[in-house]
Amino acid sequence: MLNHRLINPPREPEKFVKAAITFLQKHAKDKKVFCALSGGIDSSATYLLLKEANINTIPVFIDHGLMRIIRGVEERENITKLFPEVMVVDIREKFLPKIFGEEDAEVKRKLFKDAYSDTISKVIKEEKCDLLSDGTILPDIEESFGVKISDLKETMSLKEEISLKNKNIRGFVKSQHNLDIEYDVEATVQPVASLTKPEVRKVLEYFKMPNELVYRKAFPGPALSARIIGPVTSENLKFEKKVHDIVESTVDDYYTEKFGKPMIINDKGEQEPFQAFAATTTDVLLRKVTGIINGQRTYEVPLSIKGEWDFEKLVHFSSQIKGYARILYELYESHEGIYDVIIRSINSIDARTASVTNLPIDLIEELNYKLLEIPDTKNIYFDITPKPPATIEYV
Ligand code: XMP
Repeated sequence: MLNHRLINPPREPEKFVKAAITFLQKHAKDKKVFCALSGGIDSSATYLLLKEANINTIPVFIDHGLMRIIRGVEERENITKLFPEVMVVDIREKFLPKIFGEEDAEVKRKLFKDAYSDTISKVIKEEKCDLLSDGTILPDIEESFGVKISDLKETMSLKEEISLKNKNIRGFVKSQHNLDIEYDVEATVQPVASLTKPEVRKVLEYFKMPNELVYRKAFPGPALSARIIGPVTSENLKFEKKVHDIVESTVDDYYTEKFGKPMIINDKGEQEPFQAFAATTTDVLLRKVTGIINGQRTYEVPLSIKGEWDFEKLVHFSSQIKGYARILYELYESHEGIYDVIIRSINSIDARTASVTNLPIDLIEELNYKLLEIPDTKNIYFDITPKPPATIEYV
C-alpha cells in the first residue's frame, strides 16, 4: 500500500484548495475513494476537498455509540444534517457489549482501533473502493514519524514509512495514531497532511461551513471512553454524555457571547479553548490517571485542593507538582450522588502541550450549578493542570 500526501502546499485557503484539487485528481481520478467522516474538522475538510475535486467518494460515519452529544443532538444526527449523503454504519449492537466493563485504557484504545479498522475494511470491500482518503494532519505525522513533514516524499510505501518511524521515534506515549494500519486499497490519499488545525479551520471557512463545524473542538478516537475513567457502563455513559454536553456547550456560549465565535486564537497563538469537556468516574481521587513528564507517560492519582480562587497562583502550583498526575480544584463536595465530575478546559496549539483556560470564576460556578442539577452527580472539580505535567485526557 502506498501513501500519497500533499506536501508543502500554499497556505492561503483559495490557493491551498486549488493545490489539493490538483493533488487529488493526480492520484484519485477515475478511482473510487472511501472517506471516513468522524464529525471532526480534519475528516470534514478532506471530504469537502474530494467533493470539490469531483472524486467518486463514499463518505462513511461509524456509529459506535460513544460519540459526544452536542446541545442535545447525537453526532450521527449532526453529521447527517451536514452531509446528507453520508453512509451511517451502525455498529452499536456489536461494539458496546465489547467495551462495557473494560477497565484498561490501552485495551479500550485497541477495541476502538479494531472496530474502526474492521468496519472500514468491510465497507471498502463491499463498495469495491480503490483508495482510502483520511484527515491525517501535520502534528499527527510529525508526532508519529519523529521527522518534519518536509522530510517525507509525496508518495511513500508503508514499508518505507515503518522503517523511518522505527529510526526516529522516541518513547511511546499513547497508541493513538493509526498510521501503520494496512487496508486492502491501492493507496491512501491525505490532502490535509501538511496543515495545522487552524489552517484546516480556514479551509472549512472557505467552504462556508457553519461555525459549529469550523470551531469544533478536537475529540479523541476512543471517544467518551477516554473521558470515562475506568470501565464504561451503559449508566455512566448516559451520565457522561449529559455532563459533557453541559460543559462543552456552556463554555461555547461564553466565548460566543464574548468574542462572537466559540474559539479564538489567543496571544500565545493557542486555540482557546482547544478542548472543553467533562470527565467522569467514581472516586476520582483513588484513580490513577495519566500525566506526561519528559515525553514519558506517568500514572498517578490526582490531588484535590480547595480554598481561595487565584487562577495564576493555582496553575503555577499545579505546573510544579511531583508524585501526583494533576491537581483538581474542588468546587463541590458531597456524600450523595454516584459520579465525580471533572471539568477540563485547555488551550493549545497542536495538543502536544496545553495550558489551562482562564475561565472566569462566575462561569465555573455556573457550570457547577448546572452539573449539580444532574441526578447522580457527586463531587465536582476543575482541573487546573497544564500539559505537561498532566495530559489533556485522563487515560
Ligand atoms: P493527551 O491526553 O495525550 O491528548 O494529552 C493529546 C490529544 O490527543 C487526543 N487523544 C487521542 N486521540 N486517540 C485519538 O485519536 C487516542 O487514543 C487519544 N488520546 C488522546 C486528545 O483528545 C488530545 O487532543
